[in-house]
Amino acid sequence: MCCAANKNKELIKLLQRAYSEELLASYQYWLGAQVAEGACLDETKSELLEHYEEEFEHAKLLSDKIIALGGSPVITPREWYDHAPEGFAAPSDPQTKTLLEQNIKGEQGAIGFYNEILEFLGECDCSTYKMIEQIRNDEIKHEEDLTGILNKL
Ligand SMILES: [Fe+2]
Ligand SMILES: [Fe+2]
Repeated sequence: MCCAANKNKELIKLLQRAYSEELLASYQYWLGAQVAEGACLDETKSELLEHYEEEFEHAKLLSDKIIALGGSPVITPREWYDHAPEGFAAPSDPQTKTLLEQNIKGEQGAIGFYNEILEFLGECDCSTYKMIEQIRNDEIKHEEDLTGILNKL
């Protein structure tokens, strides 16, 4: 780690928001797969379940990093919303088209936020940079995969 102490504290906060967003996204994907109805159903469900697992993996990576930096992962689910007030879109309309659109929007938000973290890191803390870059690239792939299904509907 090569961040100044004040920057390190700010980084932990950003990672806590990312961690909260990942857990909310993971749940959104899982729940979407449970309730989905409509066109391209099997393909949509299996894609949502794949993303559910991958977002959970991202949360794990972020949790490890937060602890390594001397911080604490967000301890209660209630606090996930405090850190990530826009991190969850309820699948109240279960049509695959709506679910795909909601999740694409979520992925776009995640890509933007990870780009902000990369900008914040700049030259500092190379291992965190690489980890965030990898997660950001996964989100880009997620967005592409969801868009691919949406375009078939
Ligand atoms: Fe993710
Ligand atoms: Fe994603």
